[in-house]
Amino acid sequence: KSIIHRQITSSTQDVAHQAAIDGAPHGTVIIADEQTSGKGRMQRQWFSAANKGIWMSILLRPQIPLQTSPQLTLLCGTVLAATFEKELNVRPFIKWPNDILINEKKVAGILTEMQAEQDRIQYVVVGIGINVNQEKKDFPEEIAQKASSLKMETGTSLDLHKMIQEILKRFEKMYDQYMQAGFAFVKALWEGFGFKIGKDIIVRTMNNERKTAFLGIAEDGALLVKNDQGEKEKLYAGEIEWF
Ligand code: BTN
Repeated sequence: KSIIHRQITSSTQDVAHQAAIDGAPHGTVIIADEQTSGKGRMQRQWFSAANKGIWMSILLRPQIPLQTSPQLTLLCGTVLAATFEKELNVRPFIKWPNDILINEKKVAGILTEMQAEQDRIQYVVVGIGINVNQEKKDFPEEIAQKASSLKMETGTSLDLHKMIQEILKRFEKMYDQYMQAGFAFVKALWEGFGFKIGKDIIVRTMNNERKTAFLGIAEDGALLVKNDQGEKEKLYAGEIEWF
């Protein structure tokens, strides 16, 4: 397997995109000790201090229809939650689509970026950011309320290499299984970790905010909610909030 390691880089997403353009194979992993402009979802910044966490991107060249690409993000979230549960003895939750929470604090996030032409996926870059060994003081004030690290939630420092190995091992296994058997088992696992399933949530999009019941996820990975008519409705974007 091909692993590209950088001590410092702007963003492993950028390195992965370039690698993809240069023809790097499916499964190439890019890992950095530190990112100077780590990217989060929704144009947000991702703090990626040196050797405090896992900052990595996985290049995939999946043969799946474009509409099913959200499934890959959910698969990845499921891998992280399953790894934390097994290795750390914690009860993680996944906040749709892909924030990993422990004790209602965000410890990891996933950024999926894709290159497609017409209806065909050229490649997918799945970016994984995990806060591992930070202390509370390491987080900038604006995120300190909501963010945490595995160390803060478990009380012990963790070996980054071992954690990376565990994640990649599980990722490979679940990815192969997904390719062979489809999304159903990933969906079931995801829902087992799903945060606030069956509860009322607030879904916030760019220009809208609504309170609704969170029913689960759909076969294609969409968020399944109940609309005002009491019917099931699929949502593809937005932030979940709770109260
Ligand atoms: C989020 O929750 O908003 C997603 C965060 C994703 C962060 C990771 S760190 C490795 C990869 N490189 C980046 O610049 N971002 C992702």
